[in-house]
Amino acid sequence: MGGLRRLEYRGYDSSGVAVQSAGRVHIRKKAGKVGNLAASIDAKPLPNGEAAIGHTRWATHGAPTDANAHPHLADHGRLAVIHNGIIENAGELRQALSGAGHVFTSETDTEVAAALLAQAYRSAVDDRGPAAADDGDDLLVGAMRRACRQLNGSFTLLAVHAGHPGLVVAARRNSPLVVGIGDGENFLGSDVAAFGEFTKRAVELGQDQVVAVTADTVAATDFDGVPVQVTEVAVDWDPAAASKGGHASFMVKEMLEQPEAVRRTIQDRIGIDGSVRLDGLGIEESTFARINKVVVVACGTASYGGQIAKYAIERWCRIPVEVDLAHEFRYRTPLLDARTLVVAISQSGETMDTLMAVRYAREQGAVVLSICNTQGSTIARESNGVLHTLAGPEIAVASTKAFLAQVTANLLLALYLAQFRGSALREETFAVAKELRRIPDLIQRTLDRAGRVNALAADLREATSVLFIGRHVGFPVALEGALKLKELAYIHAEGFAAGELKHGAIALIDQGQPVIVIVPSLRHSSLLHAKVMSTIQEVKARGGWVVAVADDGDGVVAEWADEVIAVPESSPLLAPLLTTVPLQLFAAGLAAEKGLDVDQPRNLAKSVTVE
Ligand code: AGP
Repeated sequence: MGGLRRLEYRGYDSSGVAVQSAGRVHIRKKAGKVGNLAASIDAKPLPNGEAAIGHTRWATHGAPTDANAHPHLADHGRLAVIHNGIIENAGELRQALSGAGHVFTSETDTEVAAALLAQAYRSAVDDRGPAAADDGDDLLVGAMRRACRQLNGSFTLLAVHAGHPGLVVAARRNSPLVVGIGDGENFLGSDVAAFGEFTKRAVELGQDQVVAVTADTVAATDFDGVPVQVTEVAVDWDPAAASKGGHASFMVKEMLEQPEAVRRTIQDRIGIDGSVRLDGLGIEESTFARINKVVVVACGTASYGGQIAKYAIERWCRIPVEVDLAHEFRYRTPLLDARTLVVAISQSGETMDTLMAVRYAREQGAVVLSICNTQGSTIARESNGVLHTLAGPEIAVASTKAFLAQVTANLLLALYLAQFRGSALREETFAVAKELRRIPDLIQRTLDRAGRVNALAADLREATSVLFIGRHVGFPVALEGALKLKELAYIHAEGFAAGELKHGAIALIDQGQPVIVIVPSLRHSSLLHAKVMSTIQEVKARGGWVVAVADDGDGVVAEWADEVIAVPESSPLLAPLLTTVPLQLFAAGLAAEKGLDVDQPRNLAKSVTVE
């Protein structure tokens, strides 16, 4: 149950367990959070057993109900299966299995996999003769391989069977699976957090592999039954980092950790003189020297970090940069070759859309560098090289410290490319790199001003729509501010490029409409500043209520805005590391005002491991 709670952030609309005990499989499953399941088990305990599996769900096929929760049973209640991912041919398999007499009790694709596994198992038993039933673990393992060969899509499957005491059979394609090696007990999990408190030894399963795990043995094969060698890795997981540490929520804790997340991401990578070194990337300098185009692929918050990278790389390196949502990327037949650097940004390193974009890019011969926060993640492993953000585990669904660490890593990459390829703005790149070293302290100063932002959140408690606008790198910051408000406070919010407002969206402005404006630095970008001041006046003229996020030194904005949230001054490309912070605080503050759970917002999951 502890393991389930630690993985709950990955999906939390229902949960369930199966315990294999004395020749039977007992299951319990409940809609809602793991707490509901725990209460049910406390009220009516399950028996002790030889092996158990458990699952927390993020619904794909079928609503979050008790019936759709995992585990799902087959083989007359003797086989229990849990599943992460999505089975794309579930519809046709369901039809065929129904035709063969299987009666389904849920709407899920998982039950289809369970029925398919049961069918493969029964046919293996029949082939071997009646005496073979419930004998020989290889029957269940072989059946899992056979079932997997018929499944399309992405899956991690785990199964226990009443006739195979102490055995868990698991398989993976695309979705993650890690085996924890204990002393007289072994574990399986989507990531090491599930068992990190019991063992520091783990084995990562490769693509298209099946593993049979007992208390003392771990045996892996590919889907055709060819044995595969598993390599053990040490688990670098700090249980304290994955606890709230006395804070009201993981999100609050993670926002407060942002200075440290950025500091660690920079550490040892910027010299005193401002030179940037990125050791151990896994991609040769000669390869970087050949690059003539960069394509960034990412989703959600990570994609906004990518948009900031575009401004930095194009300015300092003069290399064209495209930014694609990972799920759009491979469907628009992008132009890629060996001189294209694809930068895949992902906190979890498991986002299926981004993983598929990475695979597509590699198939097309591009060089893939991933920027990941989770070491050993699938995206990191499948890229040519990886630049790690060192934000530490991020548990809250809404990304905060990982985003600032991603922006930092993007800037480091841009500075590194600019410096070794010979930028025309050489002095600027060294100066900005030196300035980046001071940013963690400025983030701390921004966080210290949370009181002002919380008061603003209280004022806007009744708001039903909030608009965010910005220019240049303020535009992706506006998009991020809007996303945070939507996902945490369930308030309609949209981010716009400030210049775009007059091309349509200004029709939304009427009396009292809150508009949060990310204002460019007056000292560094007076031209852009003037343009944004004009936009503020246009909004005010139509009754909008303007909150400006502006530099400490901005003496002009206060004349026009209704409220000013001041952040420390920085050079333009570093500003997102500061201007994002009040927007995170604002969204969290508004969610708190509305009594919402900021760590586990409705309908969401931390790692989106389905396409
Ligand atoms: C942000 O608050 C969201 N949780 C979401 O947009 C997230 O950034 C996106 O799903 C990408 O996740 P990743 O960084 O793990 O790939």
